[in-house]
Amino acid sequence: MNQGWRAYWEKTNPDKFMISHLPRTEKVRELYFTQASEILKRGNRILDVGCGPAMDYPMWRDAGYRYFGVDFTQQFIDYANEKYGEEANLSLMDAKNLQFKNRRFHLAYSKDLLEHQPPGDWRKIIRELWRVTSKLMIISFFLPPWDNSTKHQKRDDGVWTNTYNKTEVFNHIMRFKNLNWLRINESMFHTPSSTNRKPKSHGWAVWTAMKSFCEED
Ligand SMILES: C[S@@+](CC[C@H](N)C(=O)[O-])C[C@H]1O[C@@H](n2cnc3c(N)ncnc32)[C@H](O)[C@@H]1O
Repeated sequence: MNQGWRAYWEKTNPDKFMISHLPRTEKVRELYFTQASEILKRGNRILDVGCGPAMDYPMWRDAGYRYFGVDFTQQFIDYANEKYGEEANLSLMDAKNLQFKNRRFHLAYSKDLLEHQPPGDWRKIIRELWRVTSKLMIISFFLPPWDNSTKHQKRDDGVWTNTYNKTEVFNHIMRFKNLNWLRINESMFHTPSSTNRKPKSHGWAVWTAMKSFCEED
């Protein structure tokens, strides 16, 4: 089922991806970094699910956290391994089936991952993120402001380009009632765009859920 989608990422040039995404995502990265830093301690383990070329690794490393990244695209893992070496702890893995024990990490998060999944899969991914974290889960979600309706489309090249209606996503997320949702942020900001698509602003939602200290697995 994921073949087309995986093939798309295998063909994406990692350098170009970094160059186009870093400036566009700076603010959202700052947002979840700040939220996480309020709760986490230096040395805590962080899992970046769907890490791509591990753009976030230097940010966490420089702040003293132990980073782990997983992605199902081999060439991104190879690229990041070559760039950062073994200390970035990168592994090839499907987000729907994380090969880690329960509560292995202090933070499990995903950025720009869920909005591209085939319908239904992102629920499985949230469950996995929640299972492997002991303290925090952060989901950051891209909400294009130019389209306010939910659409699931599979393009000819196999890519899922989903857009979601904000209220619908919010209601859906809230169905995970056992989660102790700490914070829900929505930010809209103007960002440089690599396309001529208008408006040239992007919206982001960042959901932060905290595990209660007495919760059992
Ligand atoms: C838009 S990129 C985001 C990369 C990174 N999180 C970032 O923000 O720079 C989406 C990434 O999700 C990965 N991905 C998509 N579905 C996945 C899955 N089921 N399991 C693991 N990785 C997945 C792709 O390989 C790609 O690297």
